[in-house]
Amino acid sequence: MGIHWTVYPNHHEASLAVADTISAVLIEKTACVLGLATGSTPLEVYAELARRHREEALDFGKATTVNLDEYIGLPPGHPQSYVHYMHEHLFRHINIDRDRTHLPNVHAADLSESANDFERLVESTGGVDLQLLGIGTNGHIGFNEPGAEEDSVTRVVDLAPGTIHSNSRFFESESDVPRRAITMGIATILRAQKIVLLATGDSKAEAVAEAINGPISRDNPASFLQTHANVHFVLDSAAAVGLAN
Ligand code: PGA
Repeated sequence: MGIHWTVYPNHHEASLAVADTISAVLIEKTACVLGLATGSTPLEVYAELARRHREEALDFGKATTVNLDEYIGLPPGHPQSYVHYMHEHLFRHINIDRDRTHLPNVHAADLSESANDFERLVESTGGVDLQLLGIGTNGHIGFNEPGAEEDSVTRVVDLAPGTIHSNSRFFESESDVPRRAITMGIATILRAQKIVLLATGDSKAEAVAEAINGPISRDNPASFLQTHANVHFVLDSAAAVGLAN
């Protein structure tokens, strides 16, 4: 099957291309299910979707969203929680029904049960039409760190030391970064109809090249995307330096 990829000159152009893909899904199927990602990479995608809602009446009124992951251990309402991120950067700007926006519940007494509930919830939507992904410098997708199994489903995971370090830029200090999360599994992600992975910047180049051209391996969880029939990597030129033209 192989991973199809496109290179854009910069982060802005790549973000617009992803916004185009998401808009096309929303226009074709108003009651679509969107799988969403957090982190710094998709911020411009969300800003563009918000603009299209405001200026071009892009309609989210019947859409459902499921997010890849959520940190464990932050108090409710914490500015770095992903539920806060989604509200801040997307949901409050668009006409989505908040009851149809879903992130793993990390405040339940039994977190494993909560992860299982989220897996069932994703299934009960009827399936994700389009899953947006970023990629970690270690090849993680969601918080499926190296070592994650191809058949993994939504579960409680430990963050890799490199991820904790990398995400410390959003916190006062590295010791404030949560150590655990609930994440969709590799199998959960691979059930989406269509997957778009956005990666920009030279720090992602090695992980991107390995994901596309390397062996399918737990060492680079994004390499499992090679087994999916409809995956598109949207890259800027810096993230694509490891790929042949
Ligand atoms: P980033 O994170 O967008 O903040 O680089 C991506 C990821 O870790 O999946």
